[in-house]
Amino acid sequence: MTTERVTVDLADRSYTVLIGERLLDTLGETLRESASGHQVLLIMDSAVESPWGKHVYKTLAAAGYDVGVFEVPTGETSKSPEMLFAIWEQLAAASFPRDSMIVALGGGMVGDLAGFAAATYHRGISYVHVPTTLLGMVDSSVGGKTAVNLAQGKNLVGAFWQPVLVVADLQTLGTLPEQERSSGVAEIIKYGVIRDAPFFELLERRVADLFAPGESALLSRVIRRSVEIKAEVVAADERESNVRAILNFGHTLGHAIEAEQNYRGLRHGEAIAVGMLAASLIAVNRNSPAWTAREHKRLEGVIAAARLPLRVPAGLGAAALAARTAGDKKVRGGKLHYVLPVRMGEVELVRDVEHAEMIAALRQLGAGD
Ligand SMILES: NC(=O)c1ccc[n+]([C@@H]2O[C@H](COP(=O)([O-])OP(=O)(O)OC[C@H]3O[C@@H](n4cnc5c(N)ncnc54)[C@H](O)[C@@H]3O)[C@@H](O)[C@H]2O)c1
Ligand SMILES: [Zn+2]
Repeated sequence: MTTERVTVDLADRSYTVLIGERLLDTLGETLRESASGHQVLLIMDSAVESPWGKHVYKTLAAAGYDVGVFEVPTGETSKSPEMLFAIWEQLAAASFPRDSMIVALGGGMVGDLAGFAAATYHRGISYVHVPTTLLGMVDSSVGGKTAVNLAQGKNLVGAFWQPVLVVADLQTLGTLPEQERSSGVAEIIKYGVIRDAPFFELLERRVADLFAPGESALLSRVIRRSVEIKAEVVAADERESNVRAILNFGHTLGHAIEAEQNYRGLRHGEAIAVGMLAASLIAVNRNSPAWTAREHKRLEGVIAAARLPLRVPAGLGAAALAARTAGDKKVRGGKLHYVLPVRMGEVELVRDVEHAEMIAALRQLGAGD
């Protein structure tokens, strides 16, 4: 299979996303081409240490790098100021110079944490992300948002810091639990709805086959198109002043569900699947001319085929969720802003969605009072 290359076009911060098979084998050599320096801190999720980490360590060492390792315990609670501090200390204790590099091996959690460490150590060193989750490949590795969480909120402290390279090796997805795969597929479906109707049609036909044996060309094509769409949107609006907001389709309610469940309920992608359905219903209920019950059914069909939830989880009330969406940080000037579908492949940021419209959509999705 040929390796796909997508350029994230951000002037002097542009970088390449490589997508293919067995890319980890040659990672050391690939890095030699994109960064100087000889010291690397490999920051990895402890869940990938055994299947992939040792291999990556060896290829980096074989390419002549002086490699340090920092293992991050699995789980979102590791995306913390304490862990960030521990990384800074390890870098400083080993006198990592300004031209050293951080390589993150893991999903979005490790990517965001390691990226923020890279953004801040010596006021910024090179950063390479090797995503090992589908969500990491199609979403968090593109766009340069890095952060840690505080008790007061997720991603509250962070920086925009672009990687110098992203290497997505499809083989790493072989060890990813099925629910984590589905979570990534939700973001992929989102890209079809917000930007590319033919891509949505491809997903309608093939989403159930994405991880089937012998379908790596399909998976690679779908990841590439997703990365392209995110890269296009980010290139148009790196700092999220306008266009980039369309990426939040499904996220206002999705975030509310995650928060209501104290981040121990639905996975991110599962929550945004429900969020996308809520936004879709609001558009249908407004008699949106090109987003009707028919489009809603199509969206439901793809979400079901991806084995993502179609209903608000039991025990969550419409009023509490609607109140949470009003507290979402994407709300500006006290008004409720939602990204609603216009037609397949196009969404718009709507600034006048009433509380009652959200409640109605949530009820239709099975929420209690
Ligand atoms: N920076 C951005 O633009 C951006 C965008 C979206 C999400 N995020 C962030 O990304 C995080 C979520 O990312 P995620 O879904 O990748 O979560 P994650 O990094 O926590 O990974 C999910 C789970 O999969 C495990 N795992 C990872 N790779 C594996 C593999 N190959 N085999 C087996 N297990 C593996 C992890 O240990 C973890 O349990 C959140 O912190 C979110 O805020 C950031
Ligand atoms: Zn998301």
